[in-house]
Amino acid sequence: MSTYTTRPTPADTSWFTRDRFGMFIHWGLYALPARHEWVKTRERMTDAEYDRYFCRFDPDLFDPRDWAGRARAAGMRYAVLTAKHHDGFCLFDSRYTDYKATNTPAGRDLVRDFVEAFRAEGLRVGFYYSLLDWHHPDFTIDVHHPRRDDPDAQAQNDGRSMARYCEYVRNQVAELLTNYGQIDVIWYDFSYPDQNGTGDRAWMKGKGAADWEADRLIALTRTLQPQILINNRTGLEQDVWTPEQYQLQDWLRHPETGERVVWEACQTFSGSWGYYRDETSWKSPAQLIRMLVNTVSAGGNLLMNVGPTARGCFDRRACDELNVFAEWMKYNSRSIYGCTMAEPELLAACPRDCRMTQSSDGKRLYIHLFAYPFGCLELRGLAGKVEYAQFLADGSELRFTEGRVDHFSEGASRGDDLLVIELPVRQPETPVPVIEVFLRE
Ligand code: GLC
Repeated sequence: MSTYTTRPTPADTSWFTRDRFGMFIHWGLYALPARHEWVKTRERMTDAEYDRYFCRFDPDLFDPRDWAGRARAAGMRYAVLTAKHHDGFCLFDSRYTDYKATNTPAGRDLVRDFVEAFRAEGLRVGFYYSLLDWHHPDFTIDVHHPRRDDPDAQAQNDGRSMARYCEYVRNQVAELLTNYGQIDVIWYDFSYPDQNGTGDRAWMKGKGAADWEADRLIALTRTLQPQILINNRTGLEQDVWTPEQYQLQDWLRHPETGERVVWEACQTFSGSWGYYRDETSWKSPAQLIRMLVNTVSAGGNLLMNVGPTARGCFDRRACDELNVFAEWMKYNSRSIYGCTMAEPELLAACPRDCRMTQSSDGKRLYIHLFAYPFGCLELRGLAGKVEYAQFLADGSELRFTEGRVDHFSEGASRGDDLLVIELPVRQPETPVPVIEVFLRE
């Protein structure tokens, strides 16, 4: 059994830390401009200007079963869809707004289609819900708001009521958590209490837990879906911590108590979350696999994002990236599902350029080769601990010796604690080969 414990959470996170890998989906009106999901505020667009996307949102190629099939093939076990993003546009049929997919040429509740298709593929489903709303008339103008540079921005705040807005949020969340069956994750986004305006914009205040009335929102969420996992971005600590576009090298810890926490890194294929046509920074296959492995080796989950196009499908580049995961996971998922950071004494033996994971029953150790070495892998401290070793992908035996490196290498590595796994000269054709080690009981 893994000896690592994490800071207690309100909900049971065991399925989550077992499944390890999920799909994030950022989809909405911003798929049409195709130049970042923050386009409305980056370009200071008015509601009227942004409406040109609302009237043309016509995803004629939308096939959620295809999305779900690709997610499952990639080895993802859950998916989180943007029910509403910062622009306030809702993919679901809410009673509390007209600003929703049913009133666009799409003409349907896209969240319902998503939920049904992903469940049918055996994936758990979750909703991303933006706490920011750049369309709602009661949401006050702040440093992120598209109207922040208007000369009369401050006057535009007159009459806006965050209390009314919070009620709107609760009403919508109640719809999302009532009308679509069991929802496994809710991903609130995001708090920025310290991001205040400066100079003549000092009246612009950041927003955090108090502004969202987060305690009431969380209580409502838990009442409607007691088993749901909630992230920390309302500003109130809940179940899951969410480092963004950053690769942790060690288990994330609570900043005050130092306890390990349940965490999920979210990452993009190419830097933006919504579909971005001209983005060129797509990650390489090796980078993608290393990202997943690195995350699990530090006890975390990976939520990998796809931004579907305005036509409603994943573009070629996204499909290629998903296929990288599919190819690798088909043969290596055993080192991911149900795995976590290796026990300290094994980790201490981790060679350079490798990452280790360990099955939660403790019986198998997985060594991921980020750079393929020549001839053998030397592990100091593992002699006597290993019963059998093989490449995970094809189950082919890897012989090993203990005590010393062979072949005219007197004076080279030796010692009672040394384990030497022999490797073929050529790296198997995969971005990251995995050695599966059966540990002695
Ligand atoms: C950020 C961005 C947002 C994105 C989110 C995903 O908070 O505001 O566009 O949805 O990260 O983690």
